[in-house]
Amino acid sequence: MLKPLIAGNWKMNGLKSSLTEAELLVEGLSQGNYSVDVLICPPATLIDRMVSVFDGNAISVGGQDCHANASGAHTGDVSAEMISDMGATFVIVGHSERRTDHGETNAVVRDKAEAALRAGITPIVCIGETLAQREAGETLSVLGDQIANSIPPGVAGDQYVVAYEPVWAIGTGLVPETSDINTAHNFLRSKLQEIGVENADKVRLLYGGSVKPSNAAEILGVAEVNGALVGGASLKAADFLGIIAGA
Ligand code: 13P
Repeated sequence: MLKPLIAGNWKMNGLKSSLTEAELLVEGLSQGNYSVDVLICPPATLIDRMVSVFDGNAISVGGQDCHANASGAHTGDVSAEMISDMGATFVIVGHSERRTDHGETNAVVRDKAEAALRAGITPIVCIGETLAQREAGETLSVLGDQIANSIPPGVAGDQYVVAYEPVWAIGTGLVPETSDINTAHNFLRSKLQEIGVENADKVRLLYGGSVKPSNAAEILGVAEVNGALVGGASLKAADFLGIIAGA
C-alpha cells in the first residue's frame, strides 16, 4: 500500500496575503492524525515564503512547472534547480494547462521531468484525455501514449509521481464515474509494468479534476488511486483539510 499524496495546485492564484491559508493548514494538520503526505504547489513567487511557513512541519512545497535547462537565456522561465534552491521538493510537469496554453508536447514534459530529477526533486507528471478524445473512445490509447512518452525513461517508479487529470474534469465540477477512474488507473499501472518501469508498483498514481471534500473519500477509495492533485479546493485550508480527511 503506497502512502497517499494529497497535493494542492494553486495555479496562478495567491499573493503574500494568501499565506494565511498555509498557516491555517499547518494548524489544521497539527490537530489531526493523518497518514498521508501533504504538498502545496503555490505560484513560484510564493515558494520561498511557503517553505518558511511550513518549516518544521511535514508539509512539502512544490513548483508548478520548470524549464528543462538548469540556467541560461530563457527569459521568464524558472529551472528545477531554482525551485529546489528555494526549498521545494516536488514540481508539477505537463499539466494540461501548460500542454494547452504553452504547446507542451510529451517530449517537452519528459525533458522537464528529467530536469526535476537532475535537480533532486520529484516530478509529478500530468496526463489526461480531452472530452473529444473521451467521446471518441480514445481515453486509454491517449493515456497509454502520454504515459509512455512523458515519464522519464530508465528511472525507477519510486522517483516520480503520475497524475491522471481528465482535461474535461478540471475546474468543471464534473468527475468521471468511480469505475472509469478505476479502469484508467488500473490501465496506467499495467502500462507502467508493460513498458518495463522498475518498481512500477511504487509509482504513486494521483487523480485530479474537481476533487472536493464531498467526493474525496470515494475517489481516494479506488484501489489504484494513491492520492489527489487538487486545484480550486486547495486554495482554502478548510476545503483542503476536508479532502485530506477523506484519504
Ligand atoms: P480542479 O481541482 O480545480 O478541478 O483542478 C484540478 C487540477 O488541474 C489540479 O492540477
